[in-house]
Amino acid sequence: MFDRLAIPPADPLLSLIAAYNADPRQGKIDLGVGVYRDETGRTPVMAAVKQAEARLLETQDSKSYLGSEGDVGFVDAIRTLALGADADIQRTPGLQTPGGTGALRLAIELYTANMPDGTVWIGTPTWPVHETMLASLGARVRTYSLYDRGTQSAIPDALAGAISEASRGDLFLLQGGCHNPSGVATPFAEWERAAELFASKDILPLVDLAYHGLGKGLDADAAGLRLLARSLPRLLLAYSCDKNFGLYRDRVGAVFALTETAAEAAAVKAHLAVLARNAWSMPPDHGGAVVRIILEDEQLTSEWRRELQQVQLRLVALRAALASFGKIGSVDLSKLPAQEGMFSLLPLDPQEIAGLRQEHGVYMAGSGRINIAGLLEHDVGRFANALELVAADRAAPAA
Ligand code: LMR
Repeated sequence: MFDRLAIPPADPLLSLIAAYNADPRQGKIDLGVGVYRDETGRTPVMAAVKQAEARLLETQDSKSYLGSEGDVGFVDAIRTLALGADADIQRTPGLQTPGGTGALRLAIELYTANMPDGTVWIGTPTWPVHETMLASLGARVRTYSLYDRGTQSAIPDALAGAISEASRGDLFLLQGGCHNPSGVATPFAEWERAAELFASKDILPLVDLAYHGLGKGLDADAAGLRLLARSLPRLLLAYSCDKNFGLYRDRVGAVFALTETAAEAAAVKAHLAVLARNAWSMPPDHGGAVVRIILEDEQLTSEWRRELQQVQLRLVALRAALASFGKIGSVDLSKLPAQEGMFSLLPLDPQEIAGLRQEHGVYMAGSGRINIAGLLEHDVGRFANALELVAADRAAPAA
């Protein structure tokens, strides 16, 4: 079998990390993979995490298995963090997963295994793994455009338009906030309209909340999700702690299902547990235990909230600094403050993206997505200058 295997296409974001690391130039700028960096360019371990890890080291007396569900205290704490203090535990079973990706995988597998004729709807552009994961699970997929590259803004009512074309029982994979790759938020009125349409057409939303707290704050970033949870009998949620707790490599996430009845809750939870058992058996424990220790402790929670707010404020400040450069070629940087989170999608063409990398050492995804947190304060002007130079090259008549 091995000799028949062709090399699959490389993951574009992971290849970008490798290309950046291999570039020997001083002053190169990494706006690639979605990892937060502070004003010194580091991705630090949060102080609250360090303290929780110290406690864990001190108190953990066994590393025996916890079961497919993972750390129940962690799952309970994330349910409240995501869905609010009034989340109904009985109706909202959850499981700890390896990162938000593991949560997405279980949620989508639950759907594709039990709704083989259902369609999964995704708004594009989106995180490339949404598309590749759905394809690998054999899902029937329909896409709709969410975003207008030319105006760097949302296409109004795109979601409602797509729902009106969908059929009963279809699944909508939605991003909860801090959109990857566009940074463009879904207005609350559109969440309201979507909630009504989902309810009337009996459509199941799956919300991917991977950047909770990095946009407008913990409550604001979950407002759309919570509205759906209040309005609908059922939904799925894939939650990631990788970014908001800075636990990337520890792989910390959770999947939840809001169900209508206790019987449904028991069945869905059992199915998710079987899927988890067959995929990874039990989730990794360390990061989940750390998050539980933080969220069960008032002082550590406020320390963590303070640190998360610094992350959010740095992103807002960088957006404002970029905006002051206004329009450069096809890119309007003044649009950035109206967006949120780590990413923005710049309407650059492949030649400009290649020029930025080759001539100026600026690395971004091939889509034109930038990770704003990759900019040090003094990089902002250099980045704007590089944009100007590639725009000028583009405009110059070919020799
Ligand atoms: C990203 O989009 O850069 C992040 O979600 C990291 C990843 O795994 O792709």
